[in-house]
Amino acid sequence: MATILVTGANGQLGSEIQNLTREFGQHEFLMTDLEKLNITSLPSLKKLFNNNKVEYIINCAAFTDVDKAEEDKKEAEKVNIVGVSNLAKLASNYQIKMFHISTDYVFDGQGSKPYSEDSPVNPLGVYGQTKYKGEVEARRHTQTMIIRTSWLYSKYGKNFLKTILRLGEEKSEIGVVYDQVGSPTNAADLAALILNIIDGTERDASYFKPGIYHYTNEGVCSWYDFAMEIKYQSGFDCKINPIRTENYPTPAKRPAYSVLDKKKITQAYNLEIPYWRYSLVKCLNELVKK
Ligand SMILES: NC(=O)c1ccc[n+]([C@@H]2O[C@H](COP(=O)([O-])OP(=O)(O)OC[C@H]3O[C@@H](n4cnc5c(N)ncnc54)[C@H](OP(=O)(O)O)[C@@H]3O)[C@@H](O)[C@H]2O)c1
Repeated sequence: MATILVTGANGQLGSEIQNLTREFGQHEFLMTDLEKLNITSLPSLKKLFNNNKVEYIINCAAFTDVDKAEEDKKEAEKVNIVGVSNLAKLASNYQIKMFHISTDYVFDGQGSKPYSEDSPVNPLGVYGQTKYKGEVEARRHTQTMIIRTSWLYSKYGKNFLKTILRLGEEKSEIGVVYDQVGSPTNAADLAALILNIIDGTERDASYFKPGIYHYTNEGVCSWYDFAMEIKYQSGFDCKINPIRTENYPTPAKRPAYSVLDKKKITQAYNLEIPYWRYSLVKCLNELVKK
């Protein structure tokens, strides 16, 4: 049995972890979000760690609005760098194992083959820059696993899947970019991976392997392909047109190619990662039930 602190527990990934707590009922979970535990507040964090014997932190808290980060750099830095630094320092003091989540947006997307964990980073915008600096802070604590993921969606929260489902009902025609490619990731798969690693670590401490890892669902597509698959699986009528990024201007630049190489985590944990289309169908089925 372990005590696990989840920060940002009401976000997509945090909610998927909450959803799995019954399956992992042997552990005690401290579920916190902004109102209960602001990771930028060192005194609040100290109070929590003084009052609870935490063994693992899963940091799901982040400033994730990629476009808003361009205009609110200070807040993005506060959450994605200072907040992570606070957690890493305290995790180090209290000898807590930490999971920290990062992003494909640390890369510039100029590549044409999947990025490995040691590929050079070069974030294009404020969000990616702050997430990379957050990784540097997280790595100051030696017992940290940093998992970079991409194109996260879930039945909870705000995400591309839910936006397309909504627009698909509201509009007769939409445009979606086809010149940005990556790998959609069902947050439920990532949540299960993290909790399984904790389970394994409870049986054998060497199961926890600090370092940077890449984890997404298997396969590659463009946002247009992703939208078309959502349409195909859910059956709305709206016409989806493939458009180029230059015809869909956004405040933040996004990487054109952000496919992550998952060999390291696959080998370390002997994983068979679900294919993105299968995981999408799983999420759509859950949405119907919700
Ligand atoms: N979403 C993606 O496509 C994507 C892709 C790659 C990597 N990631 C990374 O994956 C992780 C999880 O992402 P997600 O999509 O689950 O994010 P999310 O849905 O935006 O959830 C983040 C949560 O953190 C909370 N939060 C914000 N500031 C906080 C603070 N100072 N203290 C405590 N909590 C705070 C947010 O609360 P409010 O909502 O009230 O602000 C929200 O509940 C993040 O590290 C993200 O960078 C996400």
